[in-house]
Amino acid sequence: MKGKLYGVSLGPGDPGLITRRAWELLGSDAHWTYPVRSARSDSFALDIVQRAGLPLPAEHTALVFPMTHDEHKLARYWLQAAETVLARLTRGEDVLFLVEGDASTYATFGHLARTVAGLDAEVAIETVPGVSSFNAAAADLGMPLAETDDTLAIVPAGYGVAMIDRLLADFDTLVLLKVKPVLDDLLDLLEARGLLPHSAFVERVGTREERQVRDLASLRGETVNYLSLILVRNPHRERGPIVRGCRKKKAEAAS
Ligand SMILES: C[S@@+](CC[C@H](N)C(=O)[O-])C[C@H]1O[C@@H](n2cnc3c(N)ncnc32)[C@H](O)[C@@H]1O
Repeated sequence: MKGKLYGVSLGPGDPGLITRRAWELLGSDAHWTYPVRSARSDSFALDIVQRAGLPLPAEHTALVFPMTHDEHKLARYWLQAAETVLARLTRGEDVLFLVEGDASTYATFGHLARTVAGLDAEVAIETVPGVSSFNAAAADLGMPLAETDDTLAIVPAGYGVAMIDRLLADFDTLVLLKVKPVLDDLLDLLEARGLLPHSAFVERVGTREERQVRDLASLRGETVNYLSLILVRNPHRERGPIVRGCRKKKAEAAS
């Protein structure tokens, strides 16, 4: 019988945020795989489990997913990774793919799972959900992501300030990911829209090096870590009418 492929979310860095389901799988005899940017890079996902005190199995496999937007190049690496994983599954081994944060949120696991399923539609696949970086950041900051009728958008900041500016018309909260390359542009936009006092920056949430910055202007010109994000609470959104479940019944009762 073939083994099963698991996308194992590990949370953003604090071992305490690893779920019981993930922990149970990490303690099984399944083979560990994890993403790296190059054959010489470290794996943040592996770092999380090691800091949790889990012993590294004697055999484990780094799967290379380079940082590139070249779709052909990426497809070659996904295929290579999927073939490596499938060889083990076919031998009857279960395979864990370790993911930082949540495996369904801007993670490589979706690509890997689809490519494996494309090679063998019979392979069983399970995604173990986890705590995302921005859920942990909001909790650490004491800054709710959304309340009552709030609207929430999660956006890779690389789309640029014009797009983010447009979102402010419709969203009460913006979660801006991958802010590193466009940080100064974002700070200009937030300042121009009067949103600096309503925003917070968090770097390496859940790790010993976690840094929270409320005075965002102090970040100007800084090269921040790739693992950083900005939460923006936008008090200026104009709210239109909203339909709630109980409204129709009330209207009927009144007539
Ligand atoms: C490829 S996405 C991965 C998202 C991840 N799967 C999650 O659930 O949070 C990478 C981006 O997520 C954010 N991120 C991931 N881990 C983080 C952490 N520990 N601290 C702060 N931001 C983090 C950063 O914006 C980073 O550029």
